[in-house]
Amino acid sequence: MSTLFAPKLPANGANIPALGLGTFRMRDDVCTQAVGAALEIGYRHIDTAVMYANEAAVGQAIAASSVPRSEIFLTTKVLPDEIGAGALQKSAEGSLKRLGLDFVDLLLIHWPNARIPLAESIEALCDVKKRGLARNIGVANFTIALVEEAVAIAGRHGEKLATNQCEYHPRFNQDPLIATCRKHGIAFVSYCPVGQGRIVDDPVIVGIAARLGRTPAQVVLRWHMQQPGVAAIPKSATPAHQAANLAIFDFALTDEDMQALSGLAVPNGRLVNPPFAPTWD
Ligand SMILES: NC(=O)c1ccc[n+]([C@@H]2O[C@H](COP(=O)([O-])OP(=O)(O)OC[C@H]3O[C@@H](n4cnc5c(N)ncnc54)[C@H](OP(=O)(O)O)[C@@H]3O)[C@@H](O)[C@H]2O)c1
Repeated sequence: MSTLFAPKLPANGANIPALGLGTFRMRDDVCTQAVGAALEIGYRHIDTAVMYANEAAVGQAIAASSVPRSEIFLTTKVLPDEIGAGALQKSAEGSLKRLGLDFVDLLLIHWPNARIPLAESIEALCDVKKRGLARNIGVANFTIALVEEAVAIAGRHGEKLATNQCEYHPRFNQDPLIATCRKHGIAFVSYCPVGQGRIVDDPVIVGIAARLGRTPAQVVLRWHMQQPGVAAIPKSATPAHQAANLAIFDFALTDEDMQALSGLAVPNGRLVNPPFAPTWD
């Protein structure tokens, strides 16, 4: 089987493979095996977090892989309670230790935290980048107002944000937030890009997939890829799903297909809404 690679998305100095592997809910050997298999078939972007308790497992897969470290784009995230001055830097150091790496390619604030001043968090994030622990910095689950504020603060420290990682799939419209990210050159990284696997039996998606001879998940991931400035990180521990999810760069959706998929959005389409979430847009 020939190896496929995702194209790279430029994002304020970062070069992010547009299709990466999510690792939420995978731990220990399952995680190491899944990440190793993904690297083997061409994934070059891996998404982890302190919250997932799998950084060590991800690090083991990277260490055991024949893929050079320089080809891998590794993202991790800081817990929302650890984004204060000093704590954030300590968290980054802990992540590197568990991962067995000298730097991560992208360090994110996993969730905003209204109890910690944003200026303090962003300054700490910029400090981690200046110290070389992270090549790029960004945020996740930031609203439009928070993105605007974070961009301004980072700018005062001479830095730019590479990404805002947020929930996005055809059932959940994020157009205004994506437009804000684009305006600032920030890549929008879609999490739950296949709606946690729940949208693959949608009749509209199934219909488009049947016409194109693709799987529903491939159609949905292709929909993400055809939106400027958007990347996606589907999680899969199933080898056939991993391979299919990456094999989406040799076909295209028509404008009508794109509109039909976007038309599936519903007002209550959000899947991830923990008690500590910000007041959403
Ligand atoms: N920043 C944040 O706050 C945040 C929040 C949530 C998630 N994330 C990140 O985003 C990643 C993706 O989100 P997610 O894991 O919640 O949801 P997701 O990627 O939308 O869905 C994963 C589910 O879909 C299934 N699946 C994957 N590919 C498939 C295919 N081709 N056909 C059928 N089913 C398929 C998977 O099962 P199999 O494993 O069997 O393939 C799994 O059950 C996470 O792993 C994590 O890295 C970030």
